[in-house]
Amino acid sequence: MQALSDANILLVFGTDTGNTEEVADKICDAFAQHGCAVEMVNITDVEAEQYEEQDLIIFGIPTWDFGGIQGDFEEVEADLEALKLPGKTVALYGLGDQLGYGYYFVDAMGWVKEKLHDSGARFIGAWPTEGYDFDESRAANADKSFFCGLAIDEDQQFDLTDDRIETWVKQLFAEFEVEQSDAV
Ligand SMILES: Cc1cc2nc3c(=O)[nH]c(=O)nc-3n(C[C@H](O)[C@H](O)[C@H](O)COP(=O)(O)O)c2cc1C
Repeated sequence: MQALSDANILLVFGTDTGNTEEVADKICDAFAQHGCAVEMVNITDVEAEQYEEQDLIIFGIPTWDFGGIQGDFEEVEADLEALKLPGKTVALYGLGDQLGYGYYFVDAMGWVKEKLHDSGARFIGAWPTEGYDFDESRAANADKSFFCGLAIDEDQQFDLTDDRIETWVKQLFAEFEVEQSDAV
């Protein structure tokens, strides 16, 4: 069983106004608290070979313009769909505004999960919807009890961000090991 502390971890983010990068920094800091280094790269700079060396890949994406996909991610849609990640673990986080865009909250995170559906990756880090107030989300499951990854709202709930990240990173540590032992 491989522990996350021994894993190669890549965090790939896209951003228009910087929030998703700030959250990426905080996620890397939270991993550092556990003694883990995370390589952080903008989606505009990632090389296909970089995925090959990883055990855990974290994707971070904001939603724009009523359920729209952050532009840099949208440009690599075909590459994402073609990614082959068997034996690798993926976790997602998404940024959005639940009050301003309650029918499209963190939709782009759901889009990333859909694009990676055939990649062969295992997904960890599903996050409860409790504590959010939204109507619809492409990132939520059918009964809207979980998002497919961590939802961060810097517009309405910035005061909850640090605690959410800390809790989610702890959750990733626990789930990564379970996933790995399941795989054996
Ligand atoms: C014009 C505009 C459109 C937006 N559309 C959405 C949306 O459809 N869904 C959502 O959840 N958030 C939406 N947001 C909120 C952004 O996702 C949020 O501010 C996010 O933190 C931006 O991240 P970034 O700075 O990394 O680009 C929108 C914000 C603006 C200003």
